[in-house]
Amino acid sequence: MLNSIKNCFNTEDFRKLAKRKLPFPVFHYIDGAADDEVTLRRNTQAFEEVDLIPNVLKGVENIDISTEIMGKKIDAPLFFSPTALQRLFHYEGELAVGKAAEKFNTFFGISSLATVSIKEIGNRFSCPKLFQLYIHKDKGLNESMIEKCKINNFDAIAITVDTIVGGNRERDLYTGFTSPPKLDLKSFLSFAFHPDWTLNYLFRKKFELPELQDFVQEGTNINISIGDYFSTMLDQSITWDSISDIKNKWGGHLCLKGIMSVEDAKKAIDVGATAIMVSNHGGRQLDGSRSPFDQLAEIVDAVGDKIDVICDGGIRRGTHVLKALSLGAKACSGGRMYLYALAGSGHKGVERAYSLIQDEIIRDMKLMGCRSLKELNRNNLRFR
Ligand code: LAC
Repeated sequence: MLNSIKNCFNTEDFRKLAKRKLPFPVFHYIDGAADDEVTLRRNTQAFEEVDLIPNVLKGVENIDISTEIMGKKIDAPLFFSPTALQRLFHYEGELAVGKAAEKFNTFFGISSLATVSIKEIGNRFSCPKLFQLYIHKDKGLNESMIEKCKINNFDAIAITVDTIVGGNRERDLYTGFTSPPKLDLKSFLSFAFHPDWTLNYLFRKKFELPELQDFVQEGTNINISIGDYFSTMLDQSITWDSISDIKNKWGGHLCLKGIMSVEDAKKAIDVGATAIMVSNHGGRQLDGSRSPFDQLAEIVDAVGDKIDVICDGGIRRGTHVLKALSLGAKACSGGRMYLYALAGSGHKGVERAYSLIQDEIIRDMKLMGCRSLKELNRNNLRFR
């Protein structure tokens, strides 16, 4: 009973299930964040300090919750943020998330540190696809990833701009979490007590980071913490000119993930980005950074009519999506909202997690008296 996804009705339920299913170093890698995790908590709390004001008797039998971002129509204003290492959470990994994105016709984001290749994702899925690019010191690696995105029909590239060094993720320091994971003495009991996970890890397709392994051994063949990976492998000298160079090489829709200031949102337009993800990397980088929802209004006021503004982080409920859209976001995205479910039950879990939030969005739109997302606006909201 306790282990069944049928008993999961929200992200917190899936989180508890993931905690039971995963060895502790893997669970805490997903669940944890930087320093005191203040930003992690604030990302969700911020939504709880704003109230919705509904209107009634609006004829809401048929409503439309579709939207368009980065040139693609998606059926609901919520998509799968790119997240790393997914085959460590469940053996189906990115294929589970892609299946769900396809089913619900929404953007499927994959990471530079994905465990399934760009080619395989491109061949299997026809839903809108976003590739998240970490700009590495190794320029050949950056070019190889951009080329593969072109050949395999990806719709957009999102450059992550908030990982210039690794965040201080103390849970990973305590647990010793690395990629690939170390099955060492410290974590032995946890792996032994999760035999399903351990057998899948040992006997299914070998763990690898296919985009990186021809260029760097760290992450696939040499154990490294994600914090150390960022600090040693990524290019700390990048500037806005580097973004323009990539935009020119890629030529398609470009998104900057991790924009938090109005100044940077304006620069994103200048370098030709079509979208920004207002994001603090799920609180995993700069603890004390403002939450995306708190920072949304000033960014939308400055650039909302020129670029797609996406609110990334802290989303746990349909009402959170409605609140972000009322402030002017075009769509929302999230990682943990589907990662716990992936760990809990592969593609079935991801599909259930997404469909529960999608149902909430539909129900809450009707309760708000809104027939289309355009009807959401700041009159719907009161800040306490
Ligand atoms: C993270 C990266 C890999 O652990 O996105 O936050």
